[in-house]
Amino acid sequence: MTETNFTIFHFVIISMLILEIKIRSSDGSELVVDRSKRGLIRVPKDLSLKTTVLDISRNNISEIETSDMLSLSKLKILIVSHNRIQSLDISVFKFNKELEYLDLSNNKLKKISCHPVVNLKHLDLSFNVFDAPPICKEFGSMSQLEFLGLSATQLQKSGMLPIAHLHINKVLLVLGDLYGEKEDPESLQELNTESLHIVFPARKEFHFIMDVSVSTAISLELSNIKCVLDNNGCSYFLNVLSKLQNNSRLSNLTLNNIETNWYSLIMMLQLVWHSSIEHFSISNVKLQGQLTATNFDYSDTSLKALSIHQVVSDVFNFKQGDIYRIFSNMNIQSLTVSGTHMLHMVCPSQMSPFLHLDFSNNLLTDTVFNNCGTLAKLETLSLQINQLKKLVNVAHITKKMKSLQQLDISQNSLSYDESEGYCSWTISLLSLNMSSNRLTDSLFSCLPSMVRVLDLHNNKITRIPEDVISLEALQELNVAFNSLAHLPGCGSFGSLSVLIIDYNSISNPSAHFFKSCQKIRSINVGHNPFQCTCELQEFIQSIGQVSSGVVEGWPESYQCDYPGSYKGTLLKDFHVSPLTCNTALLIVTIGITGLVLAVTLTALCIYLDLPWYLRMVCQWTQTRHRARNIPLDKLQRTLQFHAFISYSEHDSAWVKSELLPNLEKEDIRLCLHERNFVPGKSIVENIINCIEKSYKSIFVLSPNFVQSEWCHYELYFAHHNLFHEGSDNLILILLDPIPQYSIPSSYHKLKTLMAQRTYLEWPKEKSKHALFWANLRASICVKLMEQAKE
Ligand SMILES: *[C@@H]1O[C@H](CO)[C@@H](O)[C@H](O)[C@H]1NC(C)=O
Repeated sequence: MTETNFTIFHFVIISMLILEIKIRSSDGSELVVDRSKRGLIRVPKDLSLKTTVLDISRNNISEIETSDMLSLSKLKILIVSHNRIQSLDISVFKFNKELEYLDLSNNKLKKISCHPVVNLKHLDLSFNVFDAPPICKEFGSMSQLEFLGLSATQLQKSGMLPIAHLHINKVLLVLGDLYGEKEDPESLQELNTESLHIVFPARKEFHFIMDVSVSTAISLELSNIKCVLDNNGCSYFLNVLSKLQNNSRLSNLTLNNIETNWYSLIMMLQLVWHSSIEHFSISNVKLQGQLTATNFDYSDTSLKALSIHQVVSDVFNFKQGDIYRIFSNMNIQSLTVSGTHMLHMVCPSQMSPFLHLDFSNNLLTDTVFNNCGTLAKLETLSLQINQLKKLVNVAHITKKMKSLQQLDISQNSLSYDESEGYCSWTISLLSLNMSSNRLTDSLFSCLPSMVRVLDLHNNKITRIPEDVISLEALQELNVAFNSLAHLPGCGSFGSLSVLIIDYNSISNPSAHFFKSCQKIRSINVGHNPFQCTCELQEFIQSIGQVSSGVVEGWPESYQCDYPGSYKGTLLKDFHVSPLTCNTALLIVTIGITGLVLAVTLTALCIYLDLPWYLRMVCQWTQTRHRARNIPLDKLQRTLQFHAFISYSEHDSAWVKSELLPNLEKEDIRLCLHERNFVPGKSIVENIINCIEKSYKSIFVLSPNFVQSEWCHYELYFAHHNLFHEGSDNLILILLDPIPQYSIPSSYHKLKTLMAQRTYLEWPKEKSKHALFWANLRASICVKLMEQAKE
């Protein structure tokens, strides 16, 4: 495959992945195709035959035909909601034997032609424009049906008959705007469902008389109850509610989108109070007017939980004491009032059965339930998203709540300063949520001592002062999104098993953490600005030692922030050599290297005579240097020989076999006394003659030479100061060592020369000879004029 092909191949693969996400499920592969919101006007034709889930909702499709569906034999889920389909023949699905879930809600369906589709579990035809509910007799065979969504503008008891024998879990019935002309109050009596949700026309006053007390229903939800014009206080709706007493099975009631006045709302509560309903939920309420003092009859109720969400009122500044009193004295276990702009709540006037109170998302302040002794049974209290300011006051509120275990005061404006005094929490408190407040380090001296779960995320904490606190029972601590610079140890939290400390300012977490916190089974330190240096290495290693799954978000949430060269590197991939980090190791390494070097040098000196080589090289370099500075032309005019050689008879064997061949092969002219001496002249004259015609004089020194030859030269040196100190013209070759004592005391010059050690030593080892000769040649090699030749 070429590279271009490969890129195209990649592109195709990625596009396919974007369009169709393959997910694996236990019974083989599922192919989910999402073609929603594409402006489609018909069902796409290019679908894989393996498609099991198809979402073509929110398009402009107006028709579904058999040919669209024919090939999708694996299709299980089809979502066609929010399109423009006006009529549908259900037989188009006759080949989709696996189809279980069919959503046709929010279309323009007026008519359907029926065909048995026995496998359907979920059929949604709600929010269409049917006159009568689209229930054909074929539906009677859908024994698997769990959910049925319907819409209609007219209802008749007989219309429900085809499905009366089915046990449907949930029926959604959406009534069109035209509903209510001719009502049959009995129309739902044949319905057989556990859960019924009726959506009344949104824009119409509630003037309906339908009996919603379906005998099989356990849960009932009613949406769109509007009674603003009804001077009788929502009488139609209250009438409907009162009939619920007929169904003793009904235990859950939900009312959505209510527009009424305070009085009617209280009347609704009062009606439900005396029914079989256990859980009552009201949401999205628009209230008018104000409440004048009312008595509430709490007697004889099955109600356990009441929740009221999202209430807006057109009048705010009326006396709300009566409303608070009605709610706070409710004899139920669980009360939720959230999203209501409630400013206050009073203490129940006698011992209250409340176990759970949720007053989240209101406008409550620190004065709520102040000094309240009648909530002694309360176990959970949520004051999330209110106007609480001082933690010390909140602690005091809990003081008399002897059973309070969970308190949620997150998302307030809480702060604490030690000068505000001691925090007297109830000792029963086990879980405390103080996240998203303005708490600082001082908070740690205002904590309930037995708390097990503490959520402090998103505050202004910089340090956990371990010396101040002792929270031996604490098991879970969340301090994410603060400004902590260090990982705490578990010294003060002996039982800590979960620590969440991500999104802080920890750059160098201590590696001792895991040693200190033996009971930890989950820690999240991700998204901190880690400094990838040597110290961090230890922490990374300590992570490697704890069992997998303990460190949450590892490795992807753990990245180097500093130094720049490592920024973005996963901690998992950060390595520096152990040498760089370990000082002891570094010293040892340097020591060993030094030692090895010393040993090697010693060995070189002892076995290979390194100093000799060095000396030779040194001499050679000096010679070369000097040679460059000689005024050659002057020399060249007077000289005939490169060197005069003087030696003892005893050493002539060495001179002839070694010295001469090695020098003369390089075209070096030598003056030897037996070869070049002029007969008839005295020895000394001959020597002087030779010396003066030669560039250098070489003396082959040995004990023999000292005894037999040197006398000529001492004399000569004494008369001619030719070889003055430091002169270069003299080359001494030490053939054999000459002991100092064997030099006669009158030979001053020789003594000086020997003492200066300015001689070339003849090496005994053969391997050194080449260098010796090279050195010698270098010192005498100079270009002599051709005409100066004899
Ligand atoms: C605390 O409350 C916040 C919402 O304010 C919530 O997200 C968080 O899960 C709660 N913590 C615990 C431990 O329940």
